[in-house]
This record gives sequence, structure tokens and C-alpha cells, in this order.
Amino acid sequence: MPRRAVVTGVTGQDGSYLAELLLEKGYEVVGVTRRLSAPNLERIEHLRGRVDLRQADLLDQMSLLSVIDEVRPHEVYNLAAMSFVPTSWTQPVLTGDYNAQGVTRLLDAIRRVDTSIRFYQASSSEMFGKVRETPQTEATPFHPRSPYGVSKTFAHYITVNYRESYDLFAVAGILFNHESPRRGLEFVTRKVTDGVARIKLGLADRLSLGNLDAHRDWGFAGDYVRTMWRMLQQDVPRDYVIATGVSRSVGDLVETAFGHAGLDWREHVRTDPALLRPAEVDHLIGDASKARAELGWSPAVDFERLIGMMVDADLARHRAPTPPLAVGASTR
Ligand code: NAP
Ligand code: GDD
Repeated sequence: MPRRAVVTGVTGQDGSYLAELLLEKGYEVVGVTRRLSAPNLERIEHLRGRVDLRQADLLDQMSLLSVIDEVRPHEVYNLAAMSFVPTSWTQPVLTGDYNAQGVTRLLDAIRRVDTSIRFYQASSSEMFGKVRETPQTEATPFHPRSPYGVSKTFAHYITVNYRESYDLFAVAGILFNHESPRRGLEFVTRKVTDGVARIKLGLADRLSLGNLDAHRDWGFAGDYVRTMWRMLQQDVPRDYVIATGVSRSVGDLVETAFGHAGLDWREHVRTDPALLRPAEVDHLIGDASKARAELGWSPAVDFERLIGMMVDADLARHRAPTPPLAVGASTR
């Protein structure tokens, strides 16, 4: 009997990579989508017919309960969230409802249907926020700096609480930033690599950015989804930090991306104060020693290769006769 997995957020960056991985491993994959007025399946187009899509929304308890009850999965991966940090200041209540109480709704549905279902929660390095120590580990205290970070901190602790209260195999991966050619266009890596491609091809001349001094620990999303699966295959449910252990600034990112295309970033990049955040997370760098020791975590793609891969993919997309729709388009 194949194992069955439910993946929420299957239309997102991580959801698409995780669905691929689970299919490769022989799982029956049920992807949860929310009802939209137009299709939004670009990232999983190549998996069409292989992923069973069901509609449910993190805001709607009954829809979540129905999916869990009908599918009776062995594993649930909760990747759905309002994931863009700046939007969490303009929509703080909705962010909390999706990202925090949405997780309670899902955990409670699992608890009611079958306590043997294993649960993965997408926790975030944004919970470390105004960091209390460097590098950050599973023991580092949280100090979130945005409504997004606060919502993810609630979600993290409700996952721990359901594990401790109901003996669920419920774990949280505290993942640092991970990117790919499927990253939404509003996130800084993709905004930069898409901007570089457009400038290189003469479709644009400038790129406006916010804080160039922020540092992030960036890795490749394809590497990170493998550890989500591994966390649910362990004998004991534990939470893990997943990171590369290398931190680079947004300025380094800009230089690497423009350099990859043979461009001088100083001729094209402008800073715009409107893109600064009300409270910034200045410097993230993770220590994933526990995951390296217990999960065999070892990221295959380094920063330079990641950014080069993303620039090349955006160049190819813009050169295509009819460019595919860009996922995650945004005005920011
Ligand atoms: P993403 O590309 O923005 O995808 C988010 C997914 O959540 C989309 O499929 C979206 O559906 C879905 N979603 C949003 N609201 C929903 C709702 N109310 N009901 C059902 N589905 C909903 O994000 P990602 O980068 O793949 O990240 C996956 C998860 O990991 C998120 O929880 C994120 O917060 C967390 N995380 C990400 C990173 C990172 O660096 N990527 C790091 C740490 C944690 P639509 O397509 O319909 O919008
Ligand atoms: N988006 C964006 N746009 N960020 C910019 C820009 C810009 O024009 N200019 C500078 N930055 C800086 C931000 O201020 C931030 O310090 C950094 O680039 C990274 O921003 P994002 O790429 O938007 O990601 P994030 O770190 O806020 O959040 C991502 O990573 C989290 C894990 O730490 C998201 O994927 C979250 O969902 C995830 O939890």
C-alpha cells in the first residue's frame, strides 16, 4: 500500500518541490488548494494528473476536517501560509488567522480524525528576529519582528503543544530562507534575478531595492524539502533548524546576480526608502548541527550556484517567445 501525504500550500514554491519528492518516493499526494477566481497551478503544471487536488482553506475548519477525514493520510505537511513579511504589516489580522490559528485548525482536525497521522509545520527563522545569539540553534530564544514572525511563533508553539498534549507526531522545521527559480517575484532573491534578466535583455534599466545591509542564510528550496520528509521518518518527533550556516548580505546578492550576467550593479540599482520595513531582521545565520547529525542534512547547492541558477532561469523565461506567467508577481 503506498503511503498517502496531504500537502497544504502545494501551489507554492516549497509545495511544488515537496510534491515532486513525495511522488518520486511512491507516495499518493493530495495537494490542498484554495478556491481562486483563476487557476494558479503554474508551479505544479508538470505534475498535473499525478497530484490529487482538493480545495480547503486555512480559515475554514470544516474544509480542513473534511480533507483529513476523506484522505486519511499517513503524513500532513502544512506549508500553506501568507508568507510575505511586508504584507503582514498591512494585513496583520489576516496573517494571524492564516498562519497561527490556521495551524490550530489543522492540528485539531488531525487530532479528531486519527492521532497516528504525522504532522510537519513550516516554522521560520523569522521567529529569531532581533536575534539573541549568533548563530541561531533550536535553543535560541525567539524575538519576532513582524506580524508574520509573531504568527509563525504561535504556530510553532501550538505544534509543540499538540505534540505534548495529545502525543501527536507533530514537528516543526525552523527553516532559514530558501529560494529557487520558482520563488515568488516579490522576495528579494527573485526580485533581483528577475531584474537582472530584464536589464540584461534591455527590458528594463533600473531595479529599486530596500535595505542592502540585511543578511540572510540563503539555500536552495529543493534541498530543504528533503529534510521536511526526513523529519517525519524519525523514531522520535523533534524540531530542527535547517540552514546552510553561511550568511550573505542583500548587497552580496546584488553583486553576485549582476556579476553572473556580466553587468555592473552600480549602474542599475537604486535604494528606495519606501521598501524599508517598520522593523527589520538584520542578520540571520543558522547552526544546523543537530539536523546534520540526526537527519544527515547536507545542502548540495551553495549561494553562488543558487543565484546563478535563478538568473539563468529568468533569462530563459524572458527570452522565450511567449514567456510563461511569472509566479508571485507583485508591485513591491
Ligand atoms: P509560498 O510560495 O508563498 O506558498 C504559500 C502557499 O500557501 C501557496 O500555495 C498559497 O496558495 C498557500 N496559502 C496561502 N494562504 C492559504 C489559505 N488561506 N488556505 C490555503 N492555502 C493557502 O511560500 P513558500 O516559500 O513555498 O513557503 C512554504 C511555507 O514555508 C510557508 O508556510 C512559509 O511561511 C514557510 N517558510 C518559508 C521559507 C522560505 O524561505 N521559503 C522559510 C521558512 C518558512 P496560493 O497559491 O493560492 O496563494
Ligand atoms: N522583498 C524584498 N524586496 N526584500 C528586500 C528588498 C526588496 O526590494 N530590499 C531589501 N530587502 C531585504 C529585506 O528587508 C529583508 O531583510 C531581506 O531582503 C529578505 O527579504 P525577503 O526576500 O522578502 O525574505 P524574508 O527574509 O523577509 O522572509 C523570507 O524568509 C523567511 C525565513 O527567514 C520568507 O520566505 C518568509 O516566508 C520566511 O519565513
